[in-house]
Amino acid sequence: MSREVNRESMGDATPLRPVYCECGINTAAFLSGTQICVPRIACSEEDVPVSENKLQTDFVDLRHKHYNATVIQRIDCHENLARFCIRPDHGVPAFEPGQYVTLGLGLWEPRLAGTQPEVVPESKRTRVAKRAYSISCPLLDSDGRLAPIDSIDYLEFYITLVRAADSPEKAPPVLTPRLFCLREGDRIAVGKKIVGAYTLGNIDPDATVLMLGTGTGEAPHNAMTTSLLARGHRGRIVNACCVRYLGDLAYHPRHLSLMDQYSNYRYLPCTTREPANLDASLPGYVGKQYLQDLFTSGKLAEAADDPLSADNTHVFLCGNPSMIGYIPPGGQPPASPGMLPLLEAAGFRQSHDDEGPGRIQFEKYW
Ligand SMILES: Cc1cc2nc3c(=O)[nH]c(=O)nc-3n(C[C@H](O)[C@H](O)[C@H](O)COP(=O)(O)OP(=O)(O)OC[C@H]3O[C@@H](n4cnc5c(N)ncnc54)[C@H](O)[C@@H]3O)c2cc1C
Ligand SMILES: NC(=O)c1ccc[n+]([C@@H]2O[C@H](COP(=O)([O-])OP(=O)(O)OC[C@H]3O[C@@H](n4cnc5c(N)ncnc54)[C@H](OP(=O)(O)O)[C@@H]3O)[C@@H](O)[C@H]2O)c1
Repeated sequence: MSREVNRESMGDATPLRPVYCECGINTAAFLSGTQICVPRIACSEEDVPVSENKLQTDFVDLRHKHYNATVIQRIDCHENLARFCIRPDHGVPAFEPGQYVTLGLGLWEPRLAGTQPEVVPESKRTRVAKRAYSISCPLLDSDGRLAPIDSIDYLEFYITLVRAADSPEKAPPVLTPRLFCLREGDRIAVGKKIVGAYTLGNIDPDATVLMLGTGTGEAPHNAMTTSLLARGHRGRIVNACCVRYLGDLAYHPRHLSLMDQYSNYRYLPCTTREPANLDASLPGYVGKQYLQDLFTSGKLAEAADDPLSADNTHVFLCGNPSMIGYIPPGGQPPASPGMLPLLEAAGFRQSHDDEGPGRIQFEKYW
């Protein structure tokens, strides 16, 4: 049995509210002529057969028991990337920018068609699967002005769909294939506490803040950015993000608008799989550039218009563990270093206590 989830409907009699795709450039594959993003997504229930009415009733009860929040808006950047706006029933708990919370869905929920099948034993079907998500934010209000996170009465999440495990020995992804079946009005479990030590702390208003993210790793940096700008931070704020394709930059136009409004803000996106990264015959060819390459070559400092020196810069790294490059004690360094050893060679340090400039903090997504 399959359930058709038809958001932002194309010719449907009862469409949900259209949302405008903001991915910016090169999104032609996902945009209609009117710039409305119209994905049609089917949810498959084949791998979790629900054959008896009794079970279906139980699932209604389980949802009622476990879910404590509602999806109030879903803004799709493309079929694998979306912003989920979720309102907890009892309001948004206090939190600091950079922190995260769990989202949870029952293993009884359907999975998106086209994602890796998963066999859920009957004995586990009533469990709720939870995963951590950094809190992002829309950056701007409806007038296009800065929207600090404490002005927002819902939680925004920036989530990529993991369709399959990256190797056969790993278990199939649990949550995102279910999450991407949700529509506006659907219910979900949100953790009661927002947690995490990946926060700004006491940063001098004239210091440079360097945030480096891969993919959806820009989520906490967006929340940090609005907080810094709202409190009148005077030093350079650099939010650099490395993605596969330009179309993976869901917030791109919003960052451009913020840069127009705040001269000390720099959003510096880079890609790794666009023709300009891969096709050496193109005039604009730059090759595949990781954040590490941009840092060591000095191109990042040049684009940031700031020396990015350890004397005056606080560093935040978030997303793909290979970009971060944490080596556990006794572990072997990888052939291709992440940011941590490169920053350390440049005089930066990992520290839990000392909040001064030169400090590196990081959040690994897996
Ligand atoms: C503190 C923290 C905050 C997080 N915040 C976010 C967030 O804001 N947005 C978000 O999309 N994810 C975030 N994640 C990852 C998230 O918790 C899930 O792991 C992810 O959504 C996949 O869940 P899954 O159950 O579908 O697959 P899982 O079984 O959990 O993961 C399967 C595999 O997918 C890959 N993967 C997981 N997350 C990502 C990702 N974000 N980008 C690329 N590949 C990934 C890894 O190879 C992983 O082994 C965060 C993780 C942590 C620890
Ligand atoms: N983003 C998409 O368009 C897309 C499409 C389909 C499926 N997915 C799925 O979505 C999930 C997330 O994909 P994602 O692109 O958001 O996240 P990701 O795989 O972490 O990639 C984000 C960026 O980090 C780069 N990166 C990878 N290894 C690195 C390293 N060692 N050092 C520095 N940078 C590194 C990637 O470059 P590389 O080009 O080298 O990977 C990419 O530019 C994956 O499960 C993927 O299968 C994504």
